Amino acid sequence: MVASYDDLISLTIGQPDFPTPRHVKKAGIQAIEENFTSYTHNAGTLELRHAACDFVKKKYGLHYQPDSEVIVTVGASEAIDIAFRTILTEGTEVILPGPIYPGYEPIIQMCGAIPIHIDIRKNQFRFTLEMIKPYITEKTRCIVLPYPSNPTGVSLTEAELKEIASFLKDRDIFILADEIYSELTYGQVHTSIASFLKEKTIVINGLSKSHSMTGWRIGFLFAPVNITKHILKVHQYNVSCANSIAQKAAYEALTTGIDDALLMKKEYERRRDYVYHRLLSMDLEVIKPDGAFYFFVKIPTTITLNSFDFALDLVQEAKVAVVPGSAFSVFGEGYFRLSFACSQETLETGLNRINKYLISKK
Ligand SMILES: Cc1ncc(COP(=O)(O)O)c(C=O)c1O
Repeated sequence: MVASYDDLISLTIGQPDFPTPRHVKKAGIQAIEENFTSYTHNAGTLELRHAACDFVKKKYGLHYQPDSEVIVTVGASEAIDIAFRTILTEGTEVILPGPIYPGYEPIIQMCGAIPIHIDIRKNQFRFTLEMIKPYITEKTRCIVLPYPSNPTGVSLTEAELKEIASFLKDRDIFILADEIYSELTYGQVHTSIASFLKEKTIVINGLSKSHSMTGWRIGFLFAPVNITKHILKVHQYNVSCANSIAQKAAYEALTTGIDDALLMKKEYERRRDYVYHRLLSMDLEVIKPDGAFYFFVKIPTTITLNSFDFALDLVQEAKVAVVPGSAFSVFGEGYFRLSFACSQETLETGLNRINKYLISKK
């Protein structure tokens, strides 16, 4: 439906609007020219695994062994899939905050496990130990901590993460820490829960968001060797290895391009401040994102539509597309996601149209 409108402004986009850095693209081209086109080691090339471990050590103080504690995956998506398929069995439970990125729930269900979403809407989208505790049962196998969050932009503080880590320390529960937006944090350095509880944590990361490489499909999974050695079997029989050419480009991104995200981040931060100011001036209830490139905005009470119908109405009446909150679990209802991974001009026009629409509904 959205595609049938000519002059529609789309604020739905879930990927960076920058091109992949030039030097990274060149490394990919060179890999093809030099016939680096065969299978690699199942876990990825050793040089890339070294670069990935150096990256998370330098950036987040995490310590992983390149030969045994990291797997190069087909995007963060595959890392999520193989992690769940290794640790979940029929009837086990996974605790997740809601609203949340929709990529976990179906995989948990395909494993025969049960997703247990916890409503974080009333707590400024913060997921706390106190909220988690009542849902822990003998069936709980994993807790998902996806920070910075898509769709809310919220990151947990070091103190909040430490509290969760110390509670889980002596329990047989894994943490799946999806940190794909870790390079896009505004005003604070990203903290990984793995720095407090490495032995229970599976860290997911990748180059899709940090280096604007969504189509190259390179992700990383970091975990202690006793976990990784089993996950590697699922990965191996699933995809053999990640794309060899993309692995060469990824090596360039994580070495020469180690700080490539900084320039993009500066621009995202400027846009975030602009959009925040505009949304507040429309009297919309919104939380300033700590990271990623989304606002999760409350639909005003004057509008009685559910989030899906609201999004449809906004397309039809204002020619602006946003993502309905209900796409992010049942606890996304009542909200919409607005992405600022688009140009200033697109943002300005889109926000002007939303403003006009809201005034017409008062
Ligand atoms: C929270 C989160 N995790 C994982 C992914 C998937 O990343 P990839 O493109 O590397 O598979 C996304 C993509 O939007 C995401 O938002």
